[in-house]
Formats: sequence, C-alpha cells, structure tokens
Amino acid sequence: MTLPPTEIAADVAAAYAQHFGRPPEVTTFAPGRVNLLGEHTDYNGGYVLPMPLEGLGVAIAIGHGPAPGAIEAYSDTFHEAERRNIEQGREGRWSDYVLGCLKAVATSEIRETGLRIALITTLPMGAGLSSSAALEVATLRAATTLFGKETSPVDIAVAARAVENDFVGMPCGIMDQFASAVGKPGNALFLNTRTLEYAPAPLPESHRFLILHSGVSHQLTQDGYANRVAECTAACEALGVEMLSDLGSGDLDRLDELPELLARRTRHVLTDNQRVLDGLAALKAGDPAAFGRLMTESHASQRDDYAITVPETDALVAAALEAGALGARQTGGGFGGAVVALVAEAEAEDLSATLLADFPGVRRLALV
Ligand code: GLA
Repeated sequence: MTLPPTEIAADVAAAYAQHFGRPPEVTTFAPGRVNLLGEHTDYNGGYVLPMPLEGLGVAIAIGHGPAPGAIEAYSDTFHEAERRNIEQGREGRWSDYVLGCLKAVATSEIRETGLRIALITTLPMGAGLSSSAALEVATLRAATTLFGKETSPVDIAVAARAVENDFVGMPCGIMDQFASAVGKPGNALFLNTRTLEYAPAPLPESHRFLILHSGVSHQLTQDGYANRVAECTAACEALGVEMLSDLGSGDLDRLDELPELLARRTRHVLTDNQRVLDGLAALKAGDPAAFGRLMTESHASQRDDYAITVPETDALVAAALEAGALGARQTGGGFGGAVVALVAEAEAEDLSATLLADFPGVRRLALV
C-alpha cells in the first residue's frame, strides 16, 4: 500500500482517537528504504547507497497516558495492543522497538506521566525495506517532539541504531536508520557509515527502480545476519585491521592470508564497497547502464561470496534481467525479502506485469 505520508499520518491520528478515546498530541511518519548498492558494508564502516521510500513507512501518533510508567501501544495495522512499562527490558515482541526508543529519550518523563502510542505501517515486514528502522525513527521523532527535546536527524539515526543494537539485540549497522531519518525521498543517499558524512545522489532520469517482494520473508534476528557480522570481525582480526573498510579494492591480494570462507566474505565487502563509489560516479555521469551492471554484480557477490541470497531472489533477479532490466539485485539484510531492478521507464509496467505473471508468489511493492 503506497499512500502519501500526510494521509497515513491522518489515518494514524484517527486510529489513535478511536482506540484511546481522545486525539493524539503528536503524529509523525518515517519512511522505509530500498538499498541500491553496498550490502553488509555498513557494520564494516563502509559506503552505502540507500533511497528512502516516500509512501512506504511507519506513522506514529502519541500522547500522554493516564498511568505513570505505563505504555499502551496499539498497532492499527495488525489490530494488536500491547501494554508495557518503562522499567521493562526486551521481551521479544514488536513493542520492544517502541519501548527501547521511549527508554532512550523519555524514561523520566514517562515515569511521571505514562504514554499512549498508535502506529500504522505500510511496509511489509521481513522484506528488507527497513520496517524496524522506520518504526524506531518515527517513535523517536514522536517522543522527542512530545517531550520538547532538541534533536537533529543525525542524532535520531544514531539513537535508533543504538536501540536496535543494545535493546533489541540486532547487531546492525546504521544504514537503515540513517536513510529513514536523514534521507530525502526522490534522492538516493550516499553515506560513509564510518564518518557519517553523507550527500544526496541523483537518480537516473527516464529510468525507474522496480521493487518486488520475492515472497520469502527474512528474520534478521535469526542467526544468519549475526554470523556475517562475526565472520567480518574474525577477518579483521586475521588481517590486523580495525574494520574491513580500512582496506580498499587495491588490497584484494591480501585475501590469500585468510581461510577460504573469510576470504569470500571479505571480498564481498571490499568489492561492494567499491561498487558504491562506482555507482555514485555512474549516477552523477547519468549512466544508468553502468549503474545497472553494478547492481547485477552486487547480486552475484551477495550470492557467491556472502551467501545471503535464496533461490527465490536469485530466480527473480535472473528473470528481471532476462525481461530487459538494466540491473537487478536482492536488497537489504538478505536471506530473502525484496529485489530491486533498474528498468527503463517506458518498459517498467510491461516488465513488472511479466514478472508478476511468471512468479505467483511475488508482490509488487513500489515503482520509484
Ligand atoms: C539490514 C541492517 C543494515 C544493513 C543491511 C545490509 O538492513 O539493518 O544495517 O547491514 O541489513 O546491508
């Protein structure tokens, strides 16, 4: 479902009013993102190139609550209510994301007043489009506004990542939270995750990114993602570097120093990092064909070296290329989720229709 953020915000205000019997005090929206190049480079201090998705995200409505310390959370999308207390820890529920964000910015206030929060999400879960980052960013924006706290978009991104790492327990990098909090829909965002320097990147004119859900949902808190983080840490130790981003594509000969598995993981990180730089140059030069080739190379690297693709995303990428896409790749944390393909605008609808007809389990999420 793609709706303008203002409409989703109006819907969440109505849902809050209906559920809690009074209007909210603040509403916010935060987008999900599609990543165009640079996968699993962020926790290695590397480069990424995500793009926020205008109509796909999380809207939050909040207000003070009647019971000090109590948090009443309601998801209008899933028609589920959860009650938490500001003193609690993680419990493996969706409200953990909300609770972690509220603890990060407003523990003392909520001890005094309590809080009510309603949310609507238009992002599919487990699609690799950052539904959890959007929830964190929207919650932090809402809570900092409600309690009058000064923050910048970068502060929000940093705080959101800390919640995910330290409270939810997912060892992610900062790409998703940064794209959601700082990025501007309609532009890609080039980010150096080590220095947090960033710049908007132009999108190809007369071409579009088609985003399709493969039908396989991932669950990043399962072991696969954390294993990759651990493998990168092991590679750093073996190579005597602090982060893999200390190395560049000129250091690929050092892979011989590593056991075969760690060499493949490291090669993915170094080459995908370089592909972000090359992709940025291609966007600036107005060369969509070059950008598309990099996307396809990135998919092969995710498949062959990083081992984070699944047969369904491999098949969808191959079919998109066969149908005329300039490039295609799995996007996000991996192990399923969405595929993004770069297509000529004039061919986008036909190409989309062909893929949807050939893959009954596939859903179209966006054409941007
Ligand atoms: C998930 C994480 C990000 C990033 C991507 C892979 O989305 O949250 O930090 O590591 O996977 O690029």
